[in-house]
Amino acid sequence: MPERVLLVGGGGREHAIARAVAPDCSLYACASNRNPGIADLAAETRSIDETDADEIVAFAEDVDATLAVIGPESALAAGVADALEDAGVYAFGPGADAARIETDKAYQRRFMREEGIPGCPDFETFDDMDAACAYIDDYDGDLAVKPAGLTGGKGVRVIGDQVTEAEAKAYLRDSDYDRVVLEERLVGEEFTVQAFVSDGEVRVTPAVQDHKRAYEGDEGPNTGGMGSYSDAGPALPFMDEVDYDAAVEVLEATVDALPDYEGVLYGQFMLTADGVRVVEFNARFGDPEAMNTLPVMETPFLDVLTAARDGDTLPDLSFAPRATVCKYAVPAGYPTDPEAGSRIEVDEESVARAAEGSGGDALLFYASVDARDDGLYTTTSRAFAVVGIADTIAAAEDIAEDALSAAGDGLRVRHDVGTQSLVQRRIDHVEDLRD
Ligand code: AMP
Ligand code: GLY
Repeated sequence: MPERVLLVGGGGREHAIARAVAPDCSLYACASNRNPGIADLAAETRSIDETDADEIVAFAEDVDATLAVIGPESALAAGVADALEDAGVYAFGPGADAARIETDKAYQRRFMREEGIPGCPDFETFDDMDAACAYIDDYDGDLAVKPAGLTGGKGVRVIGDQVTEAEAKAYLRDSDYDRVVLEERLVGEEFTVQAFVSDGEVRVTPAVQDHKRAYEGDEGPNTGGMGSYSDAGPALPFMDEVDYDAAVEVLEATVDALPDYEGVLYGQFMLTADGVRVVEFNARFGDPEAMNTLPVMETPFLDVLTAARDGDTLPDLSFAPRATVCKYAVPAGYPTDPEAGSRIEVDEESVARAAEGSGGDALLFYASVDARDDGLYTTTSRAFAVVGIADTIAAAEDIAEDALSAAGDGLRVRHDVGTQSLVQRRIDHVEDLRD
């Protein structure tokens, strides 16, 4: 009997997960929105909020799910993995307690300090915003101001980069945050390494670079991620293999300290003049990063999932030696004032044609769109992504741009993601820092 996999979440990341497992299993999916890409791949979809553990368990029981994969952090934080486990359904994704590595940045930093995990920046945590402001006044150097709880990647303010000291203090005073982390500002280039983790085993995937800022040239507010690229090998063009290995060492040390952790452990790193530092951990695949990683993974994702469930050794992973470039189309006004409820058109055929004759591939992943009877509508979040896959980043970028002709009006894209000029800027930046 084929595996019956329940997927929780309806974004681009979950569409990529669905695409990776659907050929090998019967897929059931639930999310608050109706993602048409996932719906096409699933035997059944249900409209259930990602944080509604009881309804998700009921769906898993109705369809006799043999395992579950949890996409979004909101579901992990709500204890969906715990509830599924209690109901006897194996969930690939940590319980709410282990997910604190992502959901509580104050815990995450204290954990790193106590366990001696390499790459932890200097930090202090504050429950009192006046005390936090006084610390900003006294601190010699720039700080990153980070709310301890989940903010969809949009809560951090970096002094000297995004805001002045005065603006950072006003931000804290006007906020209703219970707790914040103030930590040394890291200067360098960011990259992500995602790992599959089960029973203390770690299997890493190639590095990816996301683009958090809303506008071209890394301007504007932080977003959930506007696009991302990966190279044909494990490292990125601005890194050496030793930098990638340093990131892997951090992930391995983290799992050594969390022996019961199950799921994806995502490390966000900053390559600084002094080496690799940890920006944060996430307890799930990145979005967009999953759309770079899963399409080039040759090892069936289902084999990883069943090995994790059955307590078998995780398979060694193999990846096609291909570069990927992912670009998101987002509603006008995203992230500060997104226009939800606008009808959009996506031309699937034109995506399929984008790679014709190039030797590469073009993929379309739907994200936070809502498929209604009369068409496709935006929500307040990212609408869809295209991914170009080719031998080089430049060729993958070309394909992604061609595929973007699928985007109708009313959507915005960072066209600079993966371009040769932006990748070269990253290389020059790291060279400057190292001089
Ligand atoms: P996080 O939610 O921790 O991923 O932070 C969101 C973004 O804020 C990161 O991707 C970085 O661009 C930036 N950031 C977070 N912490 C720092 C830091 N210590 N120094 C500089 N930038 C940071
Ligand atoms: N791309 C950043 C994240 O998934 O948190």
